[in-house]
Amino acid sequence: MSLIRVCEATKTYRGGDGVVEALKNVNLEIAEGEFLALMGPSGSGKSTLLSILGGLNPPTSGKLIIDDIDVYALAPERLADFRHEYVGFVFQQYQLIPYLTALENVMLPLAISSRPGKEQREMAQAVLNKVGLTSKSLRLPSQLSGGEQNRVAIARAIVNQPAIIFADEPTGSLDSKTAVDLLELFQTLNRDGLTIIMVTHNKENLEWVSRTVYIRDGVLASMPQET
Ligand SMILES: Nc1ncnc2c1ncn2[C@@H]1O[C@H](COP(=O)(O)OP(=O)(O)OP(=O)(O)O)[C@@H](O)[C@H]1O
Ligand SMILES: [Mg+2]
Repeated sequence: MSLIRVCEATKTYRGGDGVVEALKNVNLEIAEGEFLALMGPSGSGKSTLLSILGGLNPPTSGKLIIDDIDVYALAPERLADFRHEYVGFVFQQYQLIPYLTALENVMLPLAISSRPGKEQREMAQAVLNKVGLTSKSLRLPSQLSGGEQNRVAIARAIVNQPAIIFADEPTGSLDSKTAVDLLELFQTLNRDGLTIIMVTHNKENLEWVSRTVYIRDGVLASMPQET
């Protein structure tokens, strides 16, 4: 059975300059344990689809079912709980808080739990160790390289031990060596059981994933389309 199922999802944005159909009748099933790449040109709907899959952005029509839960039918508070329990996000911009240390950034998702502060700190440090930042946990984001900031963002996404990670262009601003480090980290996490869905522009990243879906003008395909 699929962990994630999107049925006939459409997304229409209404802006000052008219209506954009960002997704058109998208159907997609993702099994537990997949490492899926979502690829397509700029403006094709990748970030929109990722945010719908992650419970952040309701589709205009259609459904998202995760682990048998009709996600957007949940009341807002239940939806927030659902996200907290199931998903971690690595955004296109890492969105680290600039005046918090790496450790404090990673502790953020734990703040609403009832765990004592000391335990939160230990959990955050443990994931920073896992992403190779043991000795840099007390630095501010501005004192870290781009690749290191990226790993902090990943640590923050996995600290709650979610079932699914969504990553929007996680290698976009990295040099090729740092990008490979990140993909290796994702591969390790994936082998430990995490389902990963990664948006990417970069064909070189595809050798790391278990499946690729392509999107163009809001329409999905399993094969790259002609340009
Ligand atoms: N909040 C919004 N309001 C209006 N239009 C939007 C909004 N967000 C996205 N769009 C439009 O929807 C379409 C899909 O955007 P989306 O951000 O999903 O593309 P993308 O594939 O992630 O692109 P990129 O590779 O540049 O990040 C684009 O035409 C975009 O301009
Ligand atoms: Mg995008």
